[in-house]
Amino acid sequence: MAVDLLLGLQWGDEGKGKIVDVLTQNYDIIARFQGGPNAGHTLVFDGNKYVLHTIPSGIFHKTALNVVGNGVVIDPVIFKKELENLDQHNIDYAGKLLISRKAHLILPTHRLLDAASETSKGKAKIGSTLKGIGPTYMDKTGRNGMRVGDLELDNWKEKYKALTEKHIKMLNFFDVDIQYDLDELEQEFCDGIEKLKSLQFIDSEAFLNNAMKEGKKILAEGAQGSLLDIDFGTYPFVTSSNTTAAGACTGLGVAPNRIKEVFGIFKAYTTRVGSGPFPTELFDEVGETMGKVGHEFGATTGRPRRCGWLDLVALKYAVEVNGVTQLMMMKGDVLSGFDTLKVCTAYKYKGEEITHLPYNIEPENVTPIYSEFKGWEADLTGMTDEKSMPENLVNYINFIEKETGVPIKIVSVGPDRKQTIVR
Ligand code: GDP
Ligand code: IMO
Ligand code: MG
Repeated sequence: MAVDLLLGLQWGDEGKGKIVDVLTQNYDIIARFQGGPNAGHTLVFDGNKYVLHTIPSGIFHKTALNVVGNGVVIDPVIFKKELENLDQHNIDYAGKLLISRKAHLILPTHRLLDAASETSKGKAKIGSTLKGIGPTYMDKTGRNGMRVGDLELDNWKEKYKALTEKHIKMLNFFDVDIQYDLDELEQEFCDGIEKLKSLQFIDSEAFLNNAMKEGKKILAEGAQGSLLDIDFGTYPFVTSSNTTAAGACTGLGVAPNRIKEVFGIFKAYTTRVGSGPFPTELFDEVGETMGKVGHEFGATTGRPRRCGWLDLVALKYAVEVNGVTQLMMMKGDVLSGFDTLKVCTAYKYKGEEITHLPYNIEPENVTPIYSEFKGWEADLTGMTDEKSMPENLVNYINFIEKETGVPIKIVSVGPDRKQTIVR
C-alpha cells in the first residue's frame, strides 16, 4: 500500500484543509508532515466553519486516524486551544489523534525570539506569523530542541528550563524591546503540556509503515505552500521547513518509493500573505475585487492577503519539484464576473523572455508576460458537475492542463465540502 500526498503549489492558503476533508472518506489515516501553528486550514460543512492549525484536517470524520508527524512543530498552548475548540463542538478526537514522539515542541521563548528577530529586521522582516516556527526549527537542526518524547522523561522540566535560559540570553542579544512575563508563559505552557499528554504519543514512522503493511490507506497533508519551502521557495521570504513532496518522506518516515499520487492544490489566481516577491501581484481594483470576493484574509493572523493573477511559470516549477500527478483548482468561483482573465506564461528577465523561475524574482528583475482569456459571468457556487461549467472556464482549465501536462481532477467552486466538482 502506498501513501498519497496533498500539498499546496503556491504561497499557501490554496485550500488544502478543504480538500483533505473532502478526500478523508477514501483514507484510513491522515498525517501532517511539516509546519506548525503558522498554518491555518479552513473547513466548511453543515453550516459550520472550523480552522485547524496543527491538527490534521481529517479529524471531523468518524473513522480516520489523524497523525501529527515528526516533521511538525507543536505549540502546546495553541494545541490546547485547538482541542478545546473541538471539545466545544463535541468532536471526538480521543484515540483518533496520535502524536509523534519525534515532533519538536515550540516553547514560549521560541515565540519571543521570533518576535525579536522580526522586529530587529525592520523593513526587511519576513512577515512571519510569529508562532515561533523559525526559532524552533533552528533548535531542531542545531540539535538543541525539545521533543514530544521528552515529556515522557522525569527531567523534562530541567530540559525546558535550560533551553529557556539560553533563549533569554539570546533575546538580550537582539537590541529590541520585547515585553513578557516568563512565569505566566510557563504556566500556560505547562497547562498545554498536560492537555497534550492526554493524547497518545507514538513512534509515528513505525506506526505508519506498519499501517501500510496492513493495507491501510494514508494521505499525507502538507502545510504552507511550495513557494514557501525553505529550499525551493522565495528565500529568505519562506517558512523554515520543506513544504514540498520530499518533506513528506522526512516528516513522516515514509520512503520515497511509497509515495503514489501527489495531489497539487492551486488557486485559480494567486495570493500571498507576508513579505516577499510576487511577480503577478495586482495593486489595482482587480486585485482588490479578488481579495473581497475571495475573503482573502489569513486564517491564522487575519492579515489581508496580497492578490494577483495565476502565475504559470511558478506553478509549473512547483509541479516539477513535487512530481504532481493530479491538480486541483480552487476558488474558480472568485473569478466569475471579470471580463478578461490574465495568466502569466513567461517572465521578461534581463531583457529576455524566460519560462523558468530564475534565482531572483524581485520586481526589478522580472516582469510578467501575460496571455489573456475571456472571463465568464455565471455564478459557479451552485454547480455540481462539469457539464454545467461555462465554456470560458473550460478553456481556462484546458489551458492550464496543457501547459502543466497534468490533469485537473477537482474544481472547487466554494468553501463548503459540497462545492466540489470531481472530473
Ligand atoms: P489552506 O491553508 O490551504 O487550508 O487554505 P485556507 O483555509 O487558509 O484558505 C482557503 C480559504 O478559501 C478558506 O477561507 C476556505 O474556506 C476558502 N475556500 C476553499 N476553497 C474555496 C473555493 O473553491 N471557493 C471559495 N470561494 N472559497 C474557498
Ligand atoms: P497554510 O498551511 C500562508 C508565511 C508567513 C510568512 C512566511 C514565514 O495555512 O497554507 P512563519 O510563521 O512560517 O515564520 O512565516 O510564511 N506563512 C504562510 N502563508 N499560509 C500558511 O500556511 C503560512 N505559513 C506561513 O506569512 O510570510
Ligand atoms: Mg491557510
